[in-house]
Amino acid sequence: MRARISGTGSCIPLHRLDNEAISRMVDTSDAWIRERTGIESRHVICEESTVSMAAEAAERALQNAGMDPEEIDMILVSTISSEVILPCTACEVQRRIGAVNAAGFDINAACAGFLVAYQTAEMYIASGMYRNILVIGSEGLSHLVNWKDRGTCILFGDGAGAAVVTSQSGERLEGACHSDGKKGTALTCRTRYNEDEMPDDRCYMQMDGQAVFRFAVKKVPEVIEEVLEKNHLSKDEIDWFILHQANGRILESVARRLEVGIEKFPMNLQEYGNTSSASVPILLDEMNRKGCLKPGQNIVMAAFGAGLTWGASIIQWQ
Ligand code: UT7
Repeated sequence: MRARISGTGSCIPLHRLDNEAISRMVDTSDAWIRERTGIESRHVICEESTVSMAAEAAERALQNAGMDPEEIDMILVSTISSEVILPCTACEVQRRIGAVNAAGFDINAACAGFLVAYQTAEMYIASGMYRNILVIGSEGLSHLVNWKDRGTCILFGDGAGAAVVTSQSGERLEGACHSDGKKGTALTCRTRYNEDEMPDDRCYMQMDGQAVFRFAVKKVPEVIEEVLEKNHLSKDEIDWFILHQANGRILESVARRLEVGIEKFPMNLQEYGNTSSASVPILLDEMNRKGCLKPGQNIVMAAFGAGLTWGASIIQWQ
């Protein structure tokens, strides 16, 4: 069996924080942020939560797929930023949307989490165990960001995206994902501190931005080449490259290295910043709702993040 995406949805918090607002908090400027990242604004949660955004994105994806919640067999939520550790976000989404027949669990592979969750769904479908799986990426990163650290607070934003992944007959498309724990210190965030220590900055995200940048521009083109080869597809046969929205310069560098026109790399990081594992499904949903995705088109999804972790998958739009 093969997986296909039969519906998408997303949820963006109402509160928009532009670069001018950030430059009143830390020593930065709109010009620096635009030039070094391409980001103009990000949205942050106020009334919303990681769980509420996940549930809302899921409901929209179900509506888009024309499916009832009872038809869902499994819910997979990728998140690093849920306000609640127990119960897991997937079970809370199940309760909120009434997906009474679904099993569910959360996945933490940082910004690559949606890709890993999608590939997990593909495996359940390929085995014949489940037919309809909701795959969600939801992040409330504004709680993990140190708003005094200009190296990180300019980058991240909140939001959620979801896809209904459904089985259909046909050969499975091969994905790829990798991890390199030896480089894990490049992007860290602690949830607990030693009793003897005072809470400190390590409870917020800490990042060696240049190290992550160098890793992304090398590994993302490599893993894309890897999945193309595995599926016997050439770059020319790919219509869209839907990549993790971390930094416009990373996307430009990946396009250059692959020798593919940048117009095949849609971007929405200008508006939302880096929403970690929500960025790929939010962009997918935007593209879907704008009518940019046509039946039969081949789409590469690729992402990278803390771990370090990276991966790519190919989907054929229906
Ligand atoms: O989802 C995956 C997570 N992370 C990423 O994908 C992040 C990947 N990395 C990046 O996007 C970039 O490395 C950043 C946007 C984080 C930083 O951009 P950069 O071009 O690598 O800047 P840099 O760290 O090399 O700093 C260049 C200069 C430094 O000043 P000096 O030493 O040249 O005087 C920094 O102190 O820019 C300074 N700087 C800033 N200036 C104004 C660093 N951050 C800022 C800032 N505003 N926000």
